[in-house]
Amino acid sequence: MTNTDALVIFTPSGKRGRFALGTPVLTAARQLGVDLDSVCGGRGICSKCQIQPGYGEFPKFGIHVDDEALSDWNSVEDRYKTKRGMIDGRRLGCQAKVMGDVVIDVPPESQVHKQVIRKSATQRDIVMDPATRLLYIEVAEPDMHEPSGDFERVSQALASQWQVTDVEADLAILRRLQPVLRKGEWKMTVALHKGHKDARPRILDIWPGFHDGGLYGLAIDLGSTTIAAHLCDLRDGTVLASSGVMNPQIRFGEDLMSRVSYAMMNPGGDVEMTRAVREAINALAASICAEAHLDPKAIFEVVFVCNPVMHHLLLGIDPVELGQAPFALATSGSLSLDARELELTAVNRAARVYLLPCIAGHVGADAAAVALSEEPGKSEDMVLIVDVGTNAEILLGNKTRVLACSSPTGPAFEGAQISSGQRAAPGAIERVEIDPVTKEPRFRVIGSDLWSDDPDFAAATAGSGITGICGSGIIEAVAEMRMAGIVDPKGLIGSADQVGTARMIAEGRTHSYLLHDGSAEDGPTIMVTQGDIRAIQLAKSALYAGARLLMDEMGVDHVDRVTLAGAFGAHISPKHAMVLGMIPDAPLDKVTSAGNAAGTGARIALCNLAARSAIEATVHDIHKVETAIEPRFQEHFVNANAIPHASDPFPHLAGIVSLPDVSFNMAGSGADGGRRRRRG
Ligand code: FES
Repeated sequence: MTNTDALVIFTPSGKRGRFALGTPVLTAARQLGVDLDSVCGGRGICSKCQIQPGYGEFPKFGIHVDDEALSDWNSVEDRYKTKRGMIDGRRLGCQAKVMGDVVIDVPPESQVHKQVIRKSATQRDIVMDPATRLLYIEVAEPDMHEPSGDFERVSQALASQWQVTDVEADLAILRRLQPVLRKGEWKMTVALHKGHKDARPRILDIWPGFHDGGLYGLAIDLGSTTIAAHLCDLRDGTVLASSGVMNPQIRFGEDLMSRVSYAMMNPGGDVEMTRAVREAINALAASICAEAHLDPKAIFEVVFVCNPVMHHLLLGIDPVELGQAPFALATSGSLSLDARELELTAVNRAARVYLLPCIAGHVGADAAAVALSEEPGKSEDMVLIVDVGTNAEILLGNKTRVLACSSPTGPAFEGAQISSGQRAAPGAIERVEIDPVTKEPRFRVIGSDLWSDDPDFAAATAGSGITGICGSGIIEAVAEMRMAGIVDPKGLIGSADQVGTARMIAEGRTHSYLLHDGSAEDGPTIMVTQGDIRAIQLAKSALYAGARLLMDEMGVDHVDRVTLAGAFGAHISPKHAMVLGMIPDAPLDKVTSAGNAAGTGARIALCNLAARSAIEATVHDIHKVETAIEPRFQEHFVNANAIPHASDPFPHLAGIVSLPDVSFNMAGSGADGGRRRRRG
């Protein structure tokens, strides 16, 4: 250091150091470890290194920055600004040189490890640190006197210009290398990948000259019923598009165990299911890219989260062992693979795939992704997280310990096995209210914000019609029926006489509640039948029993808060879930939705390498509870059959909802039919 060195202070990091006059700002940033992006390595091509110098007095730092603190605006910056535009006051960090004490702000878009601020206050931010990045290099030309291969000179360029050593490239890259180098006049851009466990960085793709086509990734939540994908920009974490399709394996069985049985009973059945799901993923990748007007070949990373059976079927592993105790997984560890190995042909041919680790034979990588997103192991209070789907993944814990299990709820919560059930789509009833006095319902359908008693409702829903009832709709309908005294604690539906409304339709020895009669408009008649109530009771009992089992194991009789996760969990009304007894009693304001937490966990793992190591360590520490072999599960299940529960008093719920003390029975069985009591 000499006394002519200038003080350079970077914000927001606060990093500072003294540099010789004439040092480029990018060089100063690199030496101090300041997070300033660059793809072209300081050649004034990429514009990723934009900085914002500050001038005048900075009492906070005790310095004055005069107008000559940086070198003059140069022709490279001028050319860039004229061609592509740049915010006034900004400079290119690789062109501007330090000429005096200066304060330099690195705007978020110029940071490599930028934080992606998520919109919801309850959600975590993601720090960008993807496994794949673009690097521009200038490669030495071949020389008769210095015989070396083109790839060796590319390696040297990466080492000297980016300090990346020991790179590898497969044969397909080597085949393209010579024409690409010559076309780019010895300048090229490489997509370089280094996973968290990789010993060597790998070249995934190459382009002549400077290429700024972007890098993209897919975060895929592969569920038994639906496959949901988020298309993310790997530079800044932006979600460009989100889309979903039904899992085509449904035709082989609605739930996981029926798919395992299909594989057991039909030779080659597992191969058929693997093919079906891979085709669907390829189609989904193509359609989501079309939606975002993006070439699917720009997708270099795919992250999957899924339950163990989906995990094995995606990988092409026969899931038969998952259908019988002791439910051994072929592997529970995370996997880093080539997309080609999974026949994912819609993405870049060299794209890499990461599968999060599974927790146990029944608790999959989807639960691991929820743990990554919701971080129960960092919670001060006891949190219960339920990811509601065809199989419920349940996590319970706090800073000291986290437990996990999965519970076979079946597809009723997703609208399957329900007489008028359908998946969540425009026209599906999603919200229901029933007047406790008149027993008249009103409802809302997906695609309109209006309630059905609004004069404009018919016009607003003319396009979609009223087509059925989705998962959140059936939960609200059953809970509202219980609150209105149409259903008793055992789950029996009353008759027209008992309930006092002509909406009760007798069907053999049972009754149904008419929610909507669309017959006049040639639409469907939507009813809630006794069979529907039974299906919901089975599903909710399985969910509650799983949660209760974890509470037993933890030695607690209540939880401080409940997080409902899953795309469907986002739409469940906490009050109705509690009236139904889906979840253990908790203060209602402590029951929140985390949205699609498994999908969020997949996005975090896509954008941040350290998160992959973190979740692998976390999964190791999560204690697994196996519901299938635990006798108390059955006991909890039976008690949870009542609505809300046979023995749990649900004190918080009792404080806000008074449930009618009605009791019905099936027509012609027993003497207490129609007896109705009311609790104060
Ligand atoms: S580093 Fe690429 S333009 Fe400055």
